[in-house]
Amino acid sequence: MKRRNLLAAAAAAALAAAPVGAMAQAYPTKPITVIVPFAAGGPTDALARVLTARMGEALGQTMIVENVGGAGGTIGVNKAAKATPDGYTILFAHMGTLAVNIALYKTLPYDSQKDFEPIGLGGTNPMVLVAKKGLPAKDFKEFEAYVKANQKKAQYGMAGIGAASHLGGLMLNNMMKVDVLEIPYKGTGPALNDLVSGQFDYMVDQAVNVLPQIKAGTIKALGVSTLKRLPQLPDVPTIDESGLKGYEVTIWNGFFVAKGTPKDAIDKLNKALVTALGDEKVRSRLIEQAVDLPEPKDATPAALAAQLKASIDKWVPTIKAAGVQPQ
Ligand code: MLT
Repeated sequence: MKRRNLLAAAAAAALAAAPVGAMAQAYPTKPITVIVPFAAGGPTDALARVLTARMGEALGQTMIVENVGGAGGTIGVNKAAKATPDGYTILFAHMGTLAVNIALYKTLPYDSQKDFEPIGLGGTNPMVLVAKKGLPAKDFKEFEAYVKANQKKAQYGMAGIGAASHLGGLMLNNMMKVDVLEIPYKGTGPALNDLVSGQFDYMVDQAVNVLPQIKAGTIKALGVSTLKRLPQLPDVPTIDESGLKGYEVTIWNGFFVAKGTPKDAIDKLNKALVTALGDEKVRSRLIEQAVDLPEPKDATPAALAAQLKASIDKWVPTIKAAGVQPQ
């Protein structure tokens, strides 16, 4: 065999013997799709876009948000659960779609603990009870009296069964002992537009979505869902202090991938999240919007798995005890 042929044969043999991982290019080699299971312009979308813009920089790839709204987020979460587990389709979703709705649907097309690998917590949002500007109530007490007196015609907006705004409204209505018509949307982004134009009466939504409209005076804030007032709304009492003792709802959001995703991709996505959470510009922008951000060191997959379990353990029995029947 001539010398040139010998060299070619040796190179081919070396290539054949090389482990697959050594030949494959390092993840990620193409843009990553981020499924947000609610409409664009809402709280989940807002948080996802700020975090993934910085995560994409850290990963050297674009992260493209895909809004897959409908059925209280279950359509988008299911799409992410069934995606090829290669790290190129990830999910950014909240505890409504992953924990709360276990109590609200007779069957779900996914198992949030078995079908996903957690990447890390993205942030926790307080909620605000907001009402259309024309609602004749200047505080929570007047609001409660108005809703009680107008049960046949009062309407509240929410983003489908199991959405955060559904949980917030459900607990509120349940504790006020009122039966009010639900107006479902694909997300609280479009719902907020309709509240501003006065098409329904009230909604309990994440602060990150409603703060700009409250500040602009196009809707009114009647109570916050945390046990402490928010620095962004110091004059708005908590719903608990206004008389609904024990009312407390906050909404965490996190990144997940389909089960079976390679560990290398999970580690890199987590590292990118940790970088985003440690970025001062990202932090100040989100903290200003009342988002409670985890410390970067606490945004681990294990912490998110524990958070998911704790929410299932808390909300499933709470909703059952409130007498809410699954659909
Ligand atoms: C959204 O992003 O539209 C909200 O998170 C919907 C909700 O869960 O209320």
